[in-house]
Amino acid sequence: MLAGKRILLIICGGIAAYKTLDLIRRLRADGASVSPVMTAAAAEFVTPLSVSALAGEAVHTTLFDLTAEAQMGHIQLSRVADLVVVAPATADMMAKMAGGHADDLASTLLMATDTPVLLAPAMNVRMWQHPATQRNLGLLKGDGVAVIGPDSGDMACGEYGPGRMAEPADIHAAIRQHLAQGPLAGRRVIVTSGPTQEPIDPVRYISNRSSGAQGTAIGQALQALGAHVVFVSGPADVPPPNGVELYQVETAQQMLHAVTAALPADAVVCAAAVADWRVANAPESKMKKQQGRLPVLEFAENPDILATISAPGPLRPKLVVGFAAETDDVLANAQAKRARKGCDWIVANDVSPATGTFGGSENTVHLVSEAGVEEWPKMAKTAVAQRLAQRMADTLNS
Ligand code: C5P
Repeated sequence: MLAGKRILLIICGGIAAYKTLDLIRRLRADGASVSPVMTAAAAEFVTPLSVSALAGEAVHTTLFDLTAEAQMGHIQLSRVADLVVVAPATADMMAKMAGGHADDLASTLLMATDTPVLLAPAMNVRMWQHPATQRNLGLLKGDGVAVIGPDSGDMACGEYGPGRMAEPADIHAAIRQHLAQGPLAGRRVIVTSGPTQEPIDPVRYISNRSSGAQGTAIGQALQALGAHVVFVSGPADVPPPNGVELYQVETAQQMLHAVTAALPADAVVCAAAVADWRVANAPESKMKKQQGRLPVLEFAENPDILATISAPGPLRPKLVVGFAAETDDVLANAQAKRARKGCDWIVANDVSPATGTFGGSENTVHLVSEAGVEEWPKMAKTAVAQRLAQRMADTLNS
């Protein structure tokens, strides 16, 4: 997907620089060429030899390299790239960029470039939270610089919190998105996936069967066509796609909240198996077994996310797609569901046990729209996702 793309990768001095080696490997495997630039401090964390071996290109380190200047001036270096990526971006480099300093090769390139810039900050949590860094972040965003991360978690310095560099897979996905040229480039699509879990008490829950495989495949397929994917997932077995804007939820109410907060969007795909009911009388403490007495659960109806999103209004997306997992009268039920929910398309699938759809890698679906019913042959869930994403792109662009 990145074939023919050139990335100018600026590596600053931080422990996260070791992860940048993995990023280079991923970018190369994706077809990109990588021109690496290292600050003096970066060379204290990873060697220029490792970086150039993975990049397949010489590492640029100094501003006053006469040979390099004769072959390709440093300004030129910053201009031939399709994207400049700074990973890890230290607090110091962010401050230099925000202040317009140019006192080494990396900061000079960043000043001289007219190419979009993506930063992956990495630093100690206190440094990240410091008002100076936050002020610089605001200035850089105002200058049009894109930022991915930092993530929260345990840090190499022993502290916990935001400051870890985003994972290489996520930076790779963000780079793909920045350079996206597919038919969904610039489109925002929300995907719900996985089951929801509705607590019975703090240790027990009711849920639906759903691995999240189809939802993840749809997220990936939309992303591959260039969409910005907001992925709202219940506790699924299959991990979410890399690089999506991810919201992890448990209950249907949380899922509805995350989806509505993510609007406006060009399209929504509701692939989640949302529990129809929640337990209305779930106690805050664990229920105890009582001799001869069974607990009585009272149910309340959950909000219907698909129907809520499909309702007419200023935030109604242009295209809303739902799923209908049925065991009997698949098409009749799907058509009725489309009308009842008010969505544009229903992807109907037969989930009767004989089909092996649940937990399996294949799916047999029909696309039900205003135009009628389209039968799709039995195919891999990833192929269903790709075909659906392409159909969505055709419709959104028509
Ligand atoms: O009504 P049923 O659960 O069969 O409808 C399935 C479709 O509706 C799926 O697209 C599912 O994601 C969506 N749905 C929803 N919120 C609910 C129930 C279902 O978004 N509470």
